[in-house]
Amino acid sequence: MPVSKKPRVAVLISGRGSNMMSLIEAASAPDFPAEIAVVISNRPDAHGLARAQASNIATRTVDHKAYADRAHFDAALDAVLEEEQADLVCLAGFMRLLTPGFTQKWAGRMINIHPALLPSFKGLHTHERALAEGVRIHGCTVHFVTPEMDVGPIIMQAAVPVLDGDTPDTLSARVLAQEHVIYPAALRLVADGRARLVDGRVSVDEFILAPPALVVPPAR
Ligand code: GRF
Repeated sequence: MPVSKKPRVAVLISGRGSNMMSLIEAASAPDFPAEIAVVISNRPDAHGLARAQASNIATRTVDHKAYADRAHFDAALDAVLEEEQADLVCLAGFMRLLTPGFTQKWAGRMINIHPALLPSFKGLHTHERALAEGVRIHGCTVHFVTPEMDVGPIIMQAAVPVLDGDTPDTLSARVLAQEHVIYPAALRLVADGRARLVDGRVSVDEFILAPPALVVPPAR
């Protein structure tokens, strides 16, 4: 009987790799519909590389400093993805802007996790900005990657409360815990074809109720 092959996922990182680990751990379950084939870092010193190796995942480094510009770096990255026969790409704390040509080539096959409820708080320092704005609800988003940063079609989101006394660190930790829930869940949907790009939005075949992340803070 032919064995159907799981899609091969490349996880792109730049740093500590906690989201990468959540994907590796989820994909170690036999019923997970994708295989983490390789972790690629643009920084040779990324802590996530050692964590991936400790989980017996192949690693590659494409050091952006070795390339004259974004186009040459993206071409090198694309060549590694092709060598590794990647079917899907997960950006997990990957701190490089990608060229339109690269994002268009991987359209519908590349997803990202962002630490805010898009379309609010695109870009960097999301937790500091959420606190400065005084929002009461914050969270995280998994979306398909398009040429414009943090704008692509949304696959899954989780919300968390912003509590009195929160600092960027406490809020970040609360959001990160939810990132580790929704990133594997969203990859599962994409890998088994239940979340697809249709006319620039995400179509999901069935309604999936994520565990409630939003808790009401105790009255004082
Ligand atoms: C996460 O908050 C992710 O949402 C953002 O960068 C951070 C990376 O953390 N894009 P880690 O490397 O996955 O631990």
